[in-house]
Amino acid sequence: MHPVPKVYFDERIAERYDASSADMFEPAVVDPVVDLLADLAGDGDALELGIGTGRIALPLSQRGVHVHGIELSPAMVAKLRAKPGGNGVDVTIGDFAAAKASGTFTLAYLVYNTIMNVTAQDEQVECFRNVAAHLEPGGCFVIEVGVPDLQRLPPGETVRPFTVTATRLGFDEYDIAAQGLVSHHYRVVDGQLQATSMPFRYVWPSELDLMAKLAGMTLRDRWGGWQREPFTSASTSHVSVWEKSP
Ligand SMILES: C[S@@+](CC[C@H](N)C(=O)[O-])C[C@H]1O[C@@H](n2cnc3c(N)ncnc32)[C@H](O)[C@@H]1O
Repeated sequence: MHPVPKVYFDERIAERYDASSADMFEPAVVDPVVDLLADLAGDGDALELGIGTGRIALPLSQRGVHVHGIELSPAMVAKLRAKPGGNGVDVTIGDFAAAKASGTFTLAYLVYNTIMNVTAQDEQVECFRNVAAHLEPGGCFVIEVGVPDLQRLPPGETVRPFTVTATRLGFDEYDIAAQGLVSHHYRVVDGQLQATSMPFRYVWPSELDLMAKLAGMTLRDRWGGWQREPFTSASTSHVSVWEKSP
């Protein structure tokens, strides 16, 4: 029995999601993602885990790829539906570690660090298993996620700032023993302070490879970015592609 995950992307967060992630909606960011995903999908359908407000799903659909999403938050899906083309994307409301979408897919993808929203290792493994159950033989699973940046955390300290501006502060609070962190966000909006804290489980590339193996998938490519940059010891994130055994 799967634990029911808490919906962190509630109406308040959905309302400001696109504006607060505006840099991630820039064509310079989105276009290389869509190019690579369209290539991998080929003539088949694509499944997005955590489809959100459709940042990637909508432009991918416009390329002619049929996209189905699994999403926990009805508020995020309402924002997707309100956009042009938003009603053309099928969405299953549920937990992507367990929920089923109808059909089979040549591509499944989980971008923008969303695997880290799954805060238990067992559930991350279930996510890989659920993807494998949806993929056609030879189909691909793509994850975009940061490399855990523990090298930046001085020994004995647990908190690291990731954003510091006059109107926005962000701190990651690490629990290294539990391989978890909580991101604390503080924003000044119309003179009011808004605070949000969200838990994550950071995950190592090699650990993801093992999860893939448990689910019957093997690593096909690992890049440092969407333009197929090399993945190196200096990479701060990776785009990894696993293939389901034919
Ligand atoms: C960072 S947002 C990314 C949204 C979109 N993929 C994008 O790139 O803009 C993470 C999304 O994943 C959803 N999510 C998190 N955990 C989930 C789960 N276990 N099952 C389904 N959706 C989940 C959240 O509700 C949220 O919409």
